[in-house]
Amino acid sequence: MDAVAAATTPRTTPAEAAGPAGEPAATWWQTGILYQIYPRSFQDSNGDGVGDLAGILARLPHLVELGVDALWLSPIYPSPMADFGYDISDYTGIDPVFGTLDDLDALLAAAHAHGLKVLLDLVPNHTSDRHPWFEESRSSRDNPKRDWYIWHDPAPDGGPPTNWLSEFGGSAWELDPGTGQYYYHAFLDKQPDLNWRNPAVRSAMYDVMRFWLGRGVDGFRVDVIWHLIKDDQFRDNPPNPDWHPGRPPVESVVPVYTADRPEVHEVIAEMRRVVEEFDSRVLIGEIYLPIERLVTYYGTDLSGAHLPFNFALLNAPWEARRIARLIDEYESALPPGGWPNWVLGNHDRPRVGSRIGREQLRVAAMLLLTLRGTPTIYYGEEIGMVDVAIPPDRIRDPFEKNVPGIGVGRDGCRTPMQWDRGESAGFSTAEPWLPTAPDAGQENVLNQRGDVGSLLNLYRRLIALRRTRPVLGRGSYEPIAASGDLIVYVRSLGRDRVMVALNLGAEPVSLTVRGAVSNGRILVSALGDRDGEEVTGEIYLRSHEGAVIGLDAAA
Ligand code: NOJ
Repeated sequence: MDAVAAATTPRTTPAEAAGPAGEPAATWWQTGILYQIYPRSFQDSNGDGVGDLAGILARLPHLVELGVDALWLSPIYPSPMADFGYDISDYTGIDPVFGTLDDLDALLAAAHAHGLKVLLDLVPNHTSDRHPWFEESRSSRDNPKRDWYIWHDPAPDGGPPTNWLSEFGGSAWELDPGTGQYYYHAFLDKQPDLNWRNPAVRSAMYDVMRFWLGRGVDGFRVDVIWHLIKDDQFRDNPPNPDWHPGRPPVESVVPVYTADRPEVHEVIAEMRRVVEEFDSRVLIGEIYLPIERLVTYYGTDLSGAHLPFNFALLNAPWEARRIARLIDEYESALPPGGWPNWVLGNHDRPRVGSRIGREQLRVAAMLLLTLRGTPTIYYGEEIGMVDVAIPPDRIRDPFEKNVPGIGVGRDGCRTPMQWDRGESAGFSTAEPWLPTAPDAGQENVLNQRGDVGSLLNLYRRLIALRRTRPVLGRGSYEPIAASGDLIVYVRSLGRDRVMVALNLGAEPVSLTVRGAVSNGRILVSALGDRDGEEVTGEIYLRSHEGAVIGLDAAA
């Protein structure tokens, strides 16, 4: 493992770069690249088989070398780990499995010294059932914290008050025998939902945000932000006529009364104002909604999330026309000034290599890193990690345990980061909490660092190019072609113009290009063996190949 250099001269990040004449300078979360770390699986430093903060600190050199700008850590707070940290029992501490507050401070200091921002995961929708707030709330009907959660009398037959379903299977209502009422939980029964209509809840959570922002955290990714407010009339959700067995049970109703409620935007605007009490911080929202609903989360006059996560590529069929259409739809749905962002994978969804095939990973990397807006890389994506098959006795994910056998399990995309050829791929000296990929001895950071044609080096080259050519992050987007397996688009910023050509298939493709886009030179080719090649009137791409082409300035 590389030793960490805790204090070095900060890099000049593109964050500080001024925009071209007449344009406001872009901020770090617009020009930068986010990197999601699932802390349990990144690096174990103390030999317990679970990753931790000291492990992340030790691996900062990888992230610096990769060239990303900000890290988002999935939850590190004290938790019974029923949902691996998304069930929080103390919002202002660190779970001992991950380390201590001092460890976090050390990570923040070292990351900042390298010019890297650090975002935490804020989980405001629900707590653990072991959080003192819930323990108080359930202790009696007249406890002052009773209304901090969503309690309801049983239906006349004694059953749950509504047909609302848990994302993780079964009713979303759990009877509390002690007080004779049900509480609502959008996820596990061990994750009771807070009542965001209660001003005391809001104010407590805003203080949590201030606690971390004051400590130097650069912003939050907010868990299930579109779930925060539920219908105050407790109306049943309508049935979903498109649901069929084999799909998660929660999808058998349409969640019109349990998520994406109009009042949620007022809450998000309040969160945004808390973030803005501090300089240069960011608010990112986790939102799974169709594009036209998603973009409402920028808020009226951009008073909402800076970045409502755009997950459109997570589900999209990997077909040129579909992808091109999706980009167009997203670009045209954005509100004026709304900053785009793109995601290929996260800790809840199958890894991109498992969805589209390993051979397409270079093309996917080029797409992610050449679209307008902020890209997010999920740990291991840069070396092409794919989902690992989890033997039944190693399953840890409560979603898979509750709803088995239909492929909802998330363990496969959360396996240990593959660092080297050593034991557990360099992740831990102990048996890791989830199995290491069988091919980790081959597909790892160490091997790929030494191979110029590797995926890791393609990521590095593309990220370096983004740094020197602001056109890639900020330039306008113009679709040129989408036919067969080929997508071509042009990015422009001032006089700088870059064309991106991607072959989403196994057959070679070519395209005649005319006019202002006909001449240029390849800046980055997918395999690294065509960099510098001239393009004159025709683009030719081999199987699964892509190219980023610097266009000659128009005469
Ligand atoms: C979304 C998170 O990404 C997921 O991992 C978690 O299980 C649920 N929210 C519940 O917090």
